[in-house]
Amino acid sequence: MVFSCKKGIAKKEREGLFMKKENISYWTKSAAITDFTKLDQNIRTEILVVGGGIAGILAAYRLAEAGHKVVLAEGRKLVQETTANTTAKITAQHHLMYQEMLENQGEDKTRLFYQSQMDGIQAIETLVKQYQIDCDFEKISSTQLTDGRNEEAIRKEYEAYEKLGIKSELHEQGLKLPVKNTLALEMPNQAQFHPVKFLSGMVEACVNLGVKFYEETLITDINKVQAVTDQEKTIDFQKVIVATHFPLINIKNNYISELQIERSYIVAAEGMNIPVGMFQTVDEPKRSLRHYHTNNGIGVLVGGENHITATVSHMDDAYDKLSEFAFEVFKGNVTDNWSAQDMMTVDRMPLIGAYDAQNPNLFIVTGFNKFGMASAAVAAELLTDLINRRENNYASLFEPSRIKTLGNQAKAIGKQIKDAIVGEAAALKDHRTDPSELKVDEGGIFNIEGKLTAIYKDKQGNEHHVSPFCTHLGCVVKFNDAERTWDCPCHGSRFDQDGCVLEGPATKDLN
Ligand SMILES: Cc1cc2nc3c(=O)[nH]c(=O)nc-3n(C[C@H](O)[C@H](O)[C@H](O)COP(=O)(O)OP(=O)(O)OC[C@H]3O[C@@H](n4cnc5c(N)ncnc54)[C@H](O)[C@@H]3O)c2cc1C
Ligand code: FES
Repeated sequence: MVFSCKKGIAKKEREGLFMKKENISYWTKSAAITDFTKLDQNIRTEILVVGGGIAGILAAYRLAEAGHKVVLAEGRKLVQETTANTTAKITAQHHLMYQEMLENQGEDKTRLFYQSQMDGIQAIETLVKQYQIDCDFEKISSTQLTDGRNEEAIRKEYEAYEKLGIKSELHEQGLKLPVKNTLALEMPNQAQFHPVKFLSGMVEACVNLGVKFYEETLITDINKVQAVTDQEKTIDFQKVIVATHFPLINIKNNYISELQIERSYIVAAEGMNIPVGMFQTVDEPKRSLRHYHTNNGIGVLVGGENHITATVSHMDDAYDKLSEFAFEVFKGNVTDNWSAQDMMTVDRMPLIGAYDAQNPNLFIVTGFNKFGMASAAVAAELLTDLINRRENNYASLFEPSRIKTLGNQAKAIGKQIKDAIVGEAAALKDHRTDPSELKVDEGGIFNIEGKLTAIYKDKQGNEHHVSPFCTHLGCVVKFNDAERTWDCPCHGSRFDQDGCVLEGPATKDLN
């Protein structure tokens, strides 16, 4: 049987057709955003924002607020990708990072970074109040916990906090929680929210400021003055902001390939003794925790099981491990599970600003290191200031091309990715030749008459054959058994069983 990509249907509908329903986040299920039509003619705008996640929407908002004419083009539906699959902690406490950052970046940069995150929290709080957005926004603490195995690391982090003047409390006896802990480091005045409800409010604010949104308008090419869509419509612009998560850039030899893509998993559970607050266990296996609001009271999100995208064989195991934790600690009954990926940088800071000196009208925002909420709010102001040639305290801290100067560290990430690819290629030498070996609902790479072929056997026993070579830059994809997708280890593109692109940077389906 031949299966083909259903062009133009939204990912959510495709999920209904092909993917496990459970892999839709609680945020997506419990809120909606107004629908917009696709672009059906050639247009011209002052500023084009590509990508409708938190980074794109907040940038569009700030620019429109500053009086610019803004168009936002979203390839699928607004807020259905990473931003709908986050834990949605809005915090400056990014695991244990300040001690390491102090050593690598020095005191001034580290303090500035902390300040940027606190500014991001403040900016989101102000928007929630200004537009009276009902999005479960709460000011609460964020806390790092150890069960005794990492007390020294927490104490060192606390010393860094003291040196930097970061407000905190070290709980020498730990906190009274269902999670075992002997020492806890609390950062007050952090926040959390429901990201889809928040952005629904911000989209409305954008529309009132004149932003034009187009959905199912996938940008397939961008040059210095024009973007082209998959429907072959053009958008002429003076400036473009690429907020597509992994940047959609067709410039050869760019430094963006230094970004490392990491996948993580989340389960949402309703249970007992769920604490109010945001927590992170620093001992292996690490768990990220926060409460969220349900119709019955509060539930808990348990996140973890991170790995470089497409480097783990049985991704389904991640959900089992997180569910076990939710059950053991909270007698939690898992109601939803989902996963997503984020871009990691060597210095743990995002890339926000002009792409490079040769492309001064092309701006990027990426590399959030799994903490994109506060940073996206900071990015929106920074990009607006850069476009208006206004000074901004964070311009040089987040300047994208700094990554080029990080030499050996950046090479280390490049090597890690390369190893992942080489490892995969080596494994291919032993590829199987008989797809009848596949179990139902399983995928794998086969040698079919000398041609490498990615094959998924669906629940009816039908085989779906596609090329395993990613249409971005040609790396070999790997089957993700948690979501029934083909994931690329190089820059994180994802494809469904019939090779349709689900997530970029690839914009073309697998052959
Ligand atoms: C499991 C997990 C947990 C996390 N938890 C937290 C947390 O607790 N706190 C926190 O601060 N951060 C967290 N993060 C990080 C945060 O969620 C992300 O950094 C953030 O959501 C990224 O937002 P974005 O707008 O850049 O990307 P996205 O939300 O992915 O938006 C990009 C958009 O661009 C669109 N697009 C892509 N290509 C094209 C194209 N060619 N043409 C048009 N449109 C295109 C996509 O369809 C998408 O809608 C977490 C991340 C993960 C993976
Ligand atoms: S995402 Fe770049 S090669 Fe696959």
